[in-house]
Amino acid sequence: RCHGRRCRPSDYSALARCGLSNAIPRATFTAPSAVVKTQLRTAAQAQAGNGTWRPVSVLDEWVAKEARPISLRQLMVFGRSLTESRLISSANYVRTELPVRIAHRIRDMQKLPYVVVTNRHIEEVYKLYYNAFDTFRKVKEIRTLEDNEKFCEIISQNLKGHLTVIPKLAMGILECGGLMDPKELDHFMNVILRSRISRRVIAEQHLSLTETFNSPYFSPGATLSESDFIGEVFIKCSAKDVISRCAKAVTQLARTTNGPDVQVPEVRIDGHLNASFPYILSHLEYIVGELLRNSVQAVIDRHQKQPDHASSPPPPIEVTICEAQEHVIIRISDRGGGIPRDELPYLWSFSKGPLSQKRLENLGQVPRMAATMQELHVTDELGRADLKAPTYLGSLSTLTSRPPNLRLGMGLPLSRVYAEYWAGSLNLHSLEGYGVDAFLQISRLGNKNEQLTTRASMDA
Ligand code: COI
Repeated sequence: RCHGRRCRPSDYSALARCGLSNAIPRATFTAPSAVVKTQLRTAAQAQAGNGTWRPVSVLDEWVAKEARPISLRQLMVFGRSLTESRLISSANYVRTELPVRIAHRIRDMQKLPYVVVTNRHIEEVYKLYYNAFDTFRKVKEIRTLEDNEKFCEIISQNLKGHLTVIPKLAMGILECGGLMDPKELDHFMNVILRSRISRRVIAEQHLSLTETFNSPYFSPGATLSESDFIGEVFIKCSAKDVISRCAKAVTQLARTTNGPDVQVPEVRIDGHLNASFPYILSHLEYIVGELLRNSVQAVIDRHQKQPDHASSPPPPIEVTICEAQEHVIIRISDRGGGIPRDELPYLWSFSKGPLSQKRLENLGQVPRMAATMQELHVTDELGRADLKAPTYLGSLSTLTSRPPNLRLGMGLPLSRVYAEYWAGSLNLHSLEGYGVDAFLQISRLGNKNEQLTTRASMDA
């Protein structure tokens, strides 16, 4: 089967000749716009043939630059005693870093088979990214607070404009399922999502610092207390508090979805209840919320099938927190019967699985999907986050606002992307016929750099 690599923009009609057009669902393949075609052609020229690239466009110059990863600790130290000159340095870091990170992902997209990059959803993301790249690379050095204000408006507009990226990518990837090796597609999706999280973290962090700096209560150089946020980083994120809040939100969601009379399993928390670490709260809430939601629903479904279900409560979900020297591990154990055998091989896949068609239909109903806190905040007309909104309820509001019964198949793979981004991990063990144990490992010290590459790309 032709994987589309032969079909370059220049021989567009070759698609029809090689018969690939028959293999592609009609809705998936549309003729790419002239601009995208030219960019793909330029990218093809830049390919020297031996796997290396020679710079022929402005994009190549930016692709040649390395991203400069940051750690939670760096974000905290930098933002702890904020001054005007620090704020300006932060702006210039974001100004130069965003186009580098976006350029790398645009190049990844250009390397996709032609039929994949010209999928209508993927192409829309490609255009969004190219516009953002072009906008940020042209921003002149930030020298004054006034420059910074204008820069923040550009950031906010882009954050807002990119809210549709996740569902678009997810739909594109599902539609392209048969056109490329699913492992490669999933790898592409992991890298692009991780990079997106990273860009939003640095962009949102800068907006938050600017907001703090502009607050009437702010005094330059003031040192913050441990219970505070430094920008987006919550200095002492309590595992127990996050789990309790997520459990409450998930319980409410289960009642809405399954009816007010449903018996929702209790969520019991034990272990090291005082464990805390610096983290971006919305990232942790997303992961824990998704894991608990899966567990709660599985237990409810299984319990309802028991003959004596009306007279006995469903088995509880046990959450254990374990604080080790460098990590905090959260284990979520349910007795929901385990994961169906046919779904097991595709648990972490964005592109494949027995429910792909259903996922595609459901995704079509979700025009926006949040990934980080600001995406969920009420925003003003410029798209700037309303930082007065209750911050830590951010991701929980997506959890509760998504239409019930809408399974997108994104929760687990996206949770793993979040977990790995801050050098953690997420694994599941399914005990067939009994239940699931989910293990979330978090780096406790905040000293690990953001992980911009995935295992497969490091091996490559
Ligand atoms: C994204 O959300 O995909 C971004 O790249 C945001 C960034 C342009 C601020």
